[in-house]
Amino acid sequence: MCTFTASKEKKMSKRYTITAALPYTNGPIHIGHLAGVYVPADIYARYKRLTGNDVAFICGSDEHGVPITIKAKKEGVTPQQIVDRYHKIIKDSFEDFGITFDNYSRTSAKIHHDTASEFFKTLYDKNEFVEEVSEQLYDAEANQFLADRFVVGTCPKCGNEESYGDQCENCGTSHNATDLINPKSAITGNVPTLKETKHWFLPLNKHEQFLKDWILEGHKKDWKPNVYGQVKSWIDDGLRPRAVTRDLDWGIPVPVPGGEGKVLYVWFDAPIGYISATKEWAAREGKDWEPYWKDEDTKLVHFIGKDNIVFHCIIFPAMLKAEGSYILPDNVPANEFLNLEGNKLSTSKNWAVWLPEYLQDFPDKQDVLRYALTANAPETKDNDFTWKDFQARNNNELVAIFGNFINRVVVLTNKYYNGVIPTPSDFSTIDEETLAAIKAYPSVIESSIERYRFREASQELMNLARLGNKYLADEEPWKLVKTDGDRTKTIMFVALQIASALATLSEPFLPFTSTKLKNILNLSSEELQTSWSEITSKEILLPANHTIGKGELLFSKIEDSEIQAQLDKLEASKKANEAANKVVEPQKDTITFDDFTKLDLRVGTILEAEKMPKAKKLLVLKVDTGIDVRTIVSGIAESFTAEEVVGKKVTVLVNLAPRALRGVESEGMILMTETPEGKLVFVNPDTMVSESEAGVSNGTSIS
Ligand code: MF3
Ligand code: ZN
Repeated sequence: MCTFTASKEKKMSKRYTITAALPYTNGPIHIGHLAGVYVPADIYARYKRLTGNDVAFICGSDEHGVPITIKAKKEGVTPQQIVDRYHKIIKDSFEDFGITFDNYSRTSAKIHHDTASEFFKTLYDKNEFVEEVSEQLYDAEANQFLADRFVVGTCPKCGNEESYGDQCENCGTSHNATDLINPKSAITGNVPTLKETKHWFLPLNKHEQFLKDWILEGHKKDWKPNVYGQVKSWIDDGLRPRAVTRDLDWGIPVPVPGGEGKVLYVWFDAPIGYISATKEWAAREGKDWEPYWKDEDTKLVHFIGKDNIVFHCIIFPAMLKAEGSYILPDNVPANEFLNLEGNKLSTSKNWAVWLPEYLQDFPDKQDVLRYALTANAPETKDNDFTWKDFQARNNNELVAIFGNFINRVVVLTNKYYNGVIPTPSDFSTIDEETLAAIKAYPSVIESSIERYRFREASQELMNLARLGNKYLADEEPWKLVKTDGDRTKTIMFVALQIASALATLSEPFLPFTSTKLKNILNLSSEELQTSWSEITSKEILLPANHTIGKGELLFSKIEDSEIQAQLDKLEASKKANEAANKVVEPQKDTITFDDFTKLDLRVGTILEAEKMPKAKKLLVLKVDTGIDVRTIVSGIAESFTAEEVVGKKVTVLVNLAPRALRGVESEGMILMTETPEGKLVFVNPDTMVSESEAGVSNGTSIS
C-alpha cells in the first residue's frame, strides 16, 4: 500500500518552470500587480510544490526600458541608481509578503547581459533578423530617437490619443512608433522629424503560420478566452516585422557589427530574463538549468497581466522558436486589471495601494490581502478593489468562518481533553459523510487551480471551513459533553480531522495562516504533517493521543477606523493630485479704461430666490438694484441653495443686454469669483473699497 502510493506520486511528479512578469524597476509593487500576477503565480507554485513536483518559480527586476530612463531624468539621478533603489524595495516586499520565488534576479545582472547577448547573436547568425535602414521618429532638440515611451500619439487601431510608441495601453496593441498618428515627443513635446537609422527586425510575418498552428489550433480549448481572443485578433490582423533594437544608451548593447551605440529593445531582453534567472538559480543550487527550458516534458507557464499578452504569446514564442532549442509556454494565464475604489490604478497619480505601505500598516495581515485579492481576482474581467470589501473578506470570512472554526476546535480540545486528541467511538452517518467530504477537497481545489481559477479555488477552501462550522453547529459538542462523553470525543476527533486538512490545503492561499495552524496543531514533525494527496488517501489525518498546542487567534477583526484611515489616505492623494493638476486660467486680453467704464455695476440685495425647474444650475432671483427690482437668472444653484442667498448683498452688472434663459428673461448679472480652492463665492460688496474695484477682483467671472 505504502509503496504503491509512493510510486504513484513519483510518476505524477512533473517539472514546472513558472514565471511571473518581471516588474519594471521604477516604483514599488501595488495591489494591481499582486492580484494580476504575483498572488496567482505564488498559489500555483506553492500548490505544485506541495503536490510533489519539481518547480522553478522565476522572477526578477526588469531594469531596462524607457520608463526607468524617464524616472531617472526626472529625479536627476542615473538609471542605475533608480533600479538599485527599487530592486531592493520590490525584492524585500515580495519576500515579506510570502511570495516564494526560487529566484528573484535582475536584468542588469551580468548573467543576464551575457544570456541576452548570446540569444541575439544566435538569431543573428541564423539569419533570423531582417537588418534595415529606415526612417525613425527623431527629436532634434533632445537629440534623441523617439521609440517606446519617448513618444506619444494616436493609436492606429483604437484611436486612443495617448498611445506609446511600442504599445497602446488602451487596446493592448503593439506597434512600431512610426505607425502612430500625430506623434509627439514625450521629452520636449515637439513634433518629431524623421531620421535614418539601422535596426534589426524580427520578421513576425515569417512565424505567422507556426503561431496559427500552435495557438489558434493547439490552444483553443485550454487557454483563457481573454488571452486566446486577443492573440487571435492580432494574428488575424496580420503580423509585421518588429524592431528589436533601439537607439538608446540604457540597455544591453547590440552585440553584432554595426550595433555600436544601440541597445536591445527592452521587450527583447526582459523575457530572456526568465532564462537568465533560471540559470542563476540552477548554478546556486547545483542543478542543470537546461531541462527547465529545453526538455519537452517541462511545463512552462507564464503569469502576466493583460497588457503583456502580445509579448508572451507572440513575440517571445517567435524568438524561442527562431532560436530553436527552447520549449514554448504551455499556458499564459493572463489576468485582467484591478481597479481601486472605482478608478483605474495609477502610479503617476498615486492612486494605488502600495505593498510596502500595506505591510507597514498591516504587518501581520499578509494573508488577508492575499485572500481578498484572490477572492476578488480580475480573472475574467476587470475588477474593483475596495477597502470595504477587504474588511468584509476579513471579518466575515477569515475571522467568522475559518478563524472561528479553528478557534472552537482548539479551545474545546484543550478544555475537554487538555489538548490530547480523544479516541473516537463509532462514527455516525454524518461523521462518515463529513470524513468523506474532507477527502474530496484536494481534487476539487486542484481542479480549479489546474484551470487557473484561483478565486473559485479559494472559495472551495473556505467551504471546507464552512463545513467544519456547520458540523460543530449541528453536532453541538458543547451540549453533549454534559451527557454523552463518548459522542463528544467522536465529534471532536472528526472536527480535528477537518482542522488538519485545512492546515495543508490553506498553504497555497494563506501560507502564514497555514504555518500558524500547523504550530497550533503541533504538527512540527514530518510524520504528523499530511501532504496534499494524503488527505484523500490516508484513513486518519490526525491520530488520537496526539497533543495539540494552545490556541492562538489566526485572524483578528479589522475595525472601521483602520479602513477609514486607508480611505483618508486615498482621498489625500486624490486632493494632492487635483491640486498639482489645477490649471490657473491665463489672463484674458487687455481692455481699455473706456471698455471698463461701460460696465454699470451696482450693489444690490437678493429679495427672493427659487430654483429654476428642471435646471440643475440655475436660480431665479429677484434683486433690488437700487434702481428697480428685477429678475436675474444666475447659474449658481450647484454651489448655493435658494434659501441661503436670500438677503445677500451682491454686485450686479445692471446694463447687460437682457437675455431669456429657459423662457425667463434675465436682466443683468450677479458677479462671482472663485477662491484658490476652486469654491464659487459672491463678489461681496461689503469687502470692496469702491465700486470700481469690484471689477479688479482676480479672475472675476460673470455668472
Ligand atoms: N516589465 C514589464 C511590465 O511590467 C513586464 C516584463 S515581463 C518580461 O509590464 F517577460 F518581459 F519579463
Ligand atoms: Zn489602441
